[in-house]
Amino acid sequence: MAVRRMTPEDLPEAARLERECFSDPWTEEMLRESLENPLYRFFVDEEADTLRGYAGMFMALDEGNTANIAVFPEYRRKGVGEALVSALLACCREEGLSVLFLEVREGNLPAVSLYRKLGFTETGYRKNYYHDPEEGARIFMRQI
Ligand SMILES: CC(C)(COP(=O)(O)OP(=O)(O)OC[C@H]1O[C@@H](n2cnc3c(N)ncnc32)[C@H](O)[C@@H]1OP(=O)(O)O)[C@@H](O)C(=O)NCCC(=O)NCCS
Repeated sequence: MAVRRMTPEDLPEAARLERECFSDPWTEEMLRESLENPLYRFFVDEEADTLRGYAGMFMALDEGNTANIAVFPEYRRKGVGEALVSALLACCREEGLSVLFLEVREGNLPAVSLYRKLGFTETGYRKNYYHDPEEGARIFMRQI
C-alpha cells in the first residue's frame, strides 16, 4: 500500500470514486480547482497503478478541515481509509496545524468508527447539514 500526494493524472479516477460514493459528488473540475489551490492537500492510496482511495483537506489559519475521504467498495476493510486519514494527520503536523476537523453523516457508522479509532472526538452536530437524503452531520476533531 502506498499513499502519495495526488497529481492531475489522478483526477478522472478520483471523480469516478466521488460519483460511486456520494449523492452530491465533487466533479473532476471541482477537484482540479481544489488541487491547484495552495490551501488544499490531497492524497491517494495506490497499489499496482490502481487508485484505491483518496482524501483531501484544506487549511485555514492553524486548522485543517477534511474535504473528503473515500475508498472504492472493493478495497474497503483493508486499511486504506486508515492510511489516508493518517496521511492527513501527518500533513497537519508538517504544516504546523493544531487541529483537524471533519463532518460525517450521522448514520455513517464505518466512517465514524474509523475516526474514533484514529483518536477523533465528537464535538458537535449540525442539523439537516446533508441533502439527498437529508441528514444531520456529526462534527469530529483531532488535536495534532
Ligand atoms: C469510511 C471509509 C473511507 C473507510 O475506509 P476503509 O478503507 O474501509 O477503512 P479501513 O479498512 O482503513 O478501516 C479502519 C477502521 O475503520 C472502521 N471501519 C471501517 N469500515 C467499517 C465498517 N464497515 N464497519 C465498522 N467499522 C468500520 C474500523 O474501526 C476499522 O478498523 P479495523 O479494521 O481494525 O476494525 C469507506 O467505508 C468509504 O469510502 N465509505 C464511503 C465514503 C464515505 O462514507 N466517506 C466518509 C465521508 S465523511
